[in-house]
Amino acid sequence: MIFSRFSFLLLSLGALSLNCKTSTSQPPPPQVVYLKDVAKFPIGASVSPTLLKNNALYRQVAGREYTSLTCENAMKMRPLHPEATRYDWTDADAIVQFAKERGIRMHGHTLLWHQSVPDWMTNFQGDTPAWEALLKDHIQTVVRHYQGQVASWDVVNEAFNDDGTLRNSLWRQKLGDDYLARCFQYAREADQQVLLFYNDYGQEYAPKKMQAILDLVADFKKRNIPIDGLGLQLHINVNTSDANIQNLFQKAAATGLKLHVSELDVSVNPKGEATVMYTDELKEKQATRYELIFKTFKALPAAQQHGLTTWNIGDADTWLRSFYKRQDFPLLFDDQYQPKAVYGRLVKVLK
Ligand code: G3I
Repeated sequence: MIFSRFSFLLLSLGALSLNCKTSTSQPPPPQVVYLKDVAKFPIGASVSPTLLKNNALYRQVAGREYTSLTCENAMKMRPLHPEATRYDWTDADAIVQFAKERGIRMHGHTLLWHQSVPDWMTNFQGDTPAWEALLKDHIQTVVRHYQGQVASWDVVNEAFNDDGTLRNSLWRQKLGDDYLARCFQYAREADQQVLLFYNDYGQEYAPKKMQAILDLVADFKKRNIPIDGLGLQLHINVNTSDANIQNLFQKAAATGLKLHVSELDVSVNPKGEATVMYTDELKEKQATRYELIFKTFKALPAAQQHGLTTWNIGDADTWLRSFYKRQDFPLLFDDQYQPKAVYGRLVKVLK
């Protein structure tokens, strides 16, 4: 592993020429640079508790590369709140502990998501005040449990449809369109310090969704509803247009809020073929998409750079394979947790 990393990093650090000039003595020890060493803003990944526990290589990479971690699933409502009167903190707490031991920041994902509703909640029978109490109780119990340990929360995840209308989630059905604002207020009530984010995908290809989110921010500001940041998920692919990415960053940055590239991955198999050849051409297209995002993020004002997070670590761990039952290679590390060539290019961008 050291050797493959060594080979491209030596080049990027110019260490080879240094060796030539000092050839009379032993070559200096390899100078290894990790993402976190060169990033001037938080750099992160989402992680799985099972892999952190059982896979030593995964644990090693998670601990050495990043300054921010997100639970890929463990803080979602379904795993965290399996019964009305019971929370299961085990997995999420283990990840928080891993981060704490290494001085890594935790980003919380997510307090409310229509795709992670536990069955007891789906089946809950109650009037509007009872639903409101249930929502408030979940948000505040989780935020308080992690107070001082989680720096920021995706308070609501994916509340809009691509056409900009509000998704008809359980919450909207039970509590009306303004439930979103109350989620942010409940989270703020529970913790005055934690940063509150709205997180969504597809804003780079769905301009009406992007506009709905910008309108939400403007409305929140007008009504003094607390919101600190926007999560741009950026589950993109090799064909995503540069102009769309740049437009999204520009519009989101104009809100003045903090920005979190919260779930970055670049699919090389967007048509969903069962198998795909990971050719040099695809690798190049993928690397240029990554470079654009890293460069654009790097150019943001420091106060708005909440962080840049990839959606898990190695290609073996990507949700794209399990969810779409297809081959894909969307991340910065390969199936064996070796940094890919794109990693070396991003190190250069970050420096
Ligand atoms: O942990 C259970 C395991 O106990 C069980 O035996 C197994 C059987 O299917 O399921 C396991 O849970 C799975 C979980 O991932 C952990 O692997 C769920 O079925 C599966 O639905 C879940 O998928 C996650 C998905 O969100 C739904 O929660 C993906 O890993 C995760 O990458 C994905 O992440 C979302 C973000 O939260 C929001 N934005 C989009 C992104 C991609 O869909």
